Amino acid sequence: MRALVVHGGAGTAPVAGEAQELACGRALDLGWKVLAGGGSALDAVVRAVEHMEDAPTLNAGYGACLSEDGTVELDAAVMEGTTRRAGAVALVRRLRHPVRVARLLLEEGRHVFLAGAAAETFAAAQGVALIDPESLVTPERRAAWEARRRDPASGGTRFTSDGGAGTVGAVALDAAGHVAAATSTGGISGKRAGRIGDSPVIGAGTLADDGAGAASATGDGEAIMRVTLASAAIERVRSGMAPERAATLALAELTRVGARGGIILVDRFGRTAGVYTTAYMTWCRRSG
Ligand code: GLY
Repeated sequence: MRALVVHGGAGTAPVAGEAQELACGRALDLGWKVLAGGGSALDAVVRAVEHMEDAPTLNAGYGACLSEDGTVELDAAVMEGTTRRAGAVALVRRLRHPVRVARLLLEEGRHVFLAGAAAETFAAAQGVALIDPESLVTPERRAAWEARRRDPASGGTRFTSDGGAGTVGAVALDAAGHVAAATSTGGISGKRAGRIGDSPVIGAGTLADDGAGAASATGDGEAIMRVTLASAAIERVRSGMAPERAATLALAELTRVGARGGIILVDRFGRTAGVYTTAYMTWCRRSG
């Protein structure tokens, strides 16, 4: 049994945009190709997420939302369920694919989480090209930031970032029975410089454990960290609960603290779910 679930983020717009649906679908195809070719769950989730980091309409990598000072600061994490290895980066400005650097940290195994310049220095030492931070900014994101600067009431600081989709993520089960999760994001529009969200925080935005399953979250990062959303869902799955029910109950904890979001799950049997309490979440899945 193999399974893959991909999300392009939760949002408050009434419907997800076509471009976001397309990027999500393509990410699923690319990740599935890895699984179908005998690749690992870890390879599959990284492949899916790095594609979405290239999609200008999704809030990760190129096209990510801007902080209040007009810069992009990216967060990402990846985790595999065999021995719960994990890697995460935060506040990176010069990486086109933060998820790849999170993967390099996971492989190195010395540290789980690096932030800012230290993460970029690590990436460069591993042979990753450092890019001009401005090359991550789309004209649409710059225009939205300019509009917000002129009229702060126009954009707010909620997680849906300029009406586009939110964070991206993927979870997978491979033929060997291993699970993995990856999540990548630009965070929230108008955030303070230096703010880190839930996505790179293991147990909040990202979690994988072969004894239970894998999860990737999207939505209000502050609240997701406070309820450790991924953990809330995965511990229910570990006890045998179906992913759909586990996701729904975990999101109820988010509701209890006054926030909304979404989560994708795969369990160790290949059962999957995508559940959200926002107006929409772009997501898709495949198994077999
Ligand atoms: N869920 C993404 C963030 O709040 O940063």
